[in-house]
Amino acid sequence: MTRKRIGILTSGGDCPGLNAVIRAVVKASMLKGWDVYGIPYGTDGFMELAHGKYKPEELLLTTHGYALPGILKGLDVLQFLSGSVLGSLSKGHPERPEIAEAILKGYEMLGLEALVVIGGDGSLDIIYGLAQKGNWNIIAIPKTIDNDVPFTELAVGFSTAVEIVTQALYNLTFTAASHERIIIVQVMGRDAGHLTLNSGIAGGADIILIPEITPCLTPKVIDGCCHQLVKLRASGRHFALVVISEGVKDLDGKKEKYIGDYLAEKINEQTTYLCENHDPDFCGITQLDIRATTLGHLQRSGTPLSADRLLATAYGIKAVELIEEKTFDRVVIWQNGQVQSVPLKPIITIIKQCHEENRCAFPVDPDGFMVKTAKSLGIYMGEQITNN
Ligand code: F6P
Repeated sequence: MTRKRIGILTSGGDCPGLNAVIRAVVKASMLKGWDVYGIPYGTDGFMELAHGKYKPEELLLTTHGYALPGILKGLDVLQFLSGSVLGSLSKGHPERPEIAEAILKGYEMLGLEALVVIGGDGSLDIIYGLAQKGNWNIIAIPKTIDNDVPFTELAVGFSTAVEIVTQALYNLTFTAASHERIIIVQVMGRDAGHLTLNSGIAGGADIILIPEITPCLTPKVIDGCCHQLVKLRASGRHFALVVISEGVKDLDGKKEKYIGDYLAEKINEQTTYLCENHDPDFCGITQLDIRATTLGHLQRSGTPLSADRLLATAYGIKAVELIEEKTFDRVVIWQNGQVQSVPLKPIITIIKQCHEENRCAFPVDPDGFMVKTAKSLGIYMGEQITNN
């Protein structure tokens, strides 16, 4: 009897925990006597296979225990490492017919019964399109530091990214305090504010600006920030930490690469104006230095936290279980403290619609508990736009 063959790939931006998913899928599958093919660089690997860059047998994965020396021989390091051993791809062109054709051919060459796709909302949408064309059986595992995949409370990589940003805020606190500075930290997350909100609360921020509440830095928001800074100073805190999502836009609704620097400039202008025209309280703020820091891709690497390793492992095992039951075209999700699975199609429909309308597929709920938590701590969150 031929052995069952499954494939696994990572697609889109990397994040901590991808290797832990791969490890779990490979381990559990091997125990069942299946073969697992690791596709290099997302769906590009299928194309390169079709073009003869790889031979199928070169893609076979085994349980890891890399050739480490001495007493470390056999140590399974994979789950501790960030990145993806398979490589990942954020930009491909599978919509081009010749590329799609090669990808489908590569898939066929492996004779896979199913494919485990570890991806964020963009990649899942693209790969679902290919899967429809090629009649692939897929199981999707959500991963992204943005945590913006609908239906799941957690995507792999999010918890570690929150920890990295929280730690950065902790580290910045002391230099901010020593120099009586306002430090603005620009956080990733694309058009979702989950990472900024969670790390802002955990890291002791005084101001948290996320696109779901503050889509643009309007004069009202800048003014609100200045008043918050005066309030802090009056309470005896002579420094401040501000976190801003990269998804918050400038005054004209334009995306800025360095929105943190833009905010610093606007706070400076506004406090100077208020000091010169109205209120001496603001003169104290003008004396403070403002510095902006962009954390960038630091947020995507680092050792995966145990929370991410556990989530990744549970997701990997669930994927194998679904393949064994032949329950295909599902996304594994985390809900109410458990790993579950839901059909992929409705999620793809939501993602597609949101992309078309330039909306986030799973935004922060402005009336949710985390926002309430931040506000109850006295954190300024900007001016919520209401539709009435
Ligand atoms: O989606 C994950 C993410 O890290 C976003 O938070 C960020 O905007 C984007 O990817 C950065 O992409 P790139 O690595 O292509 O610069």
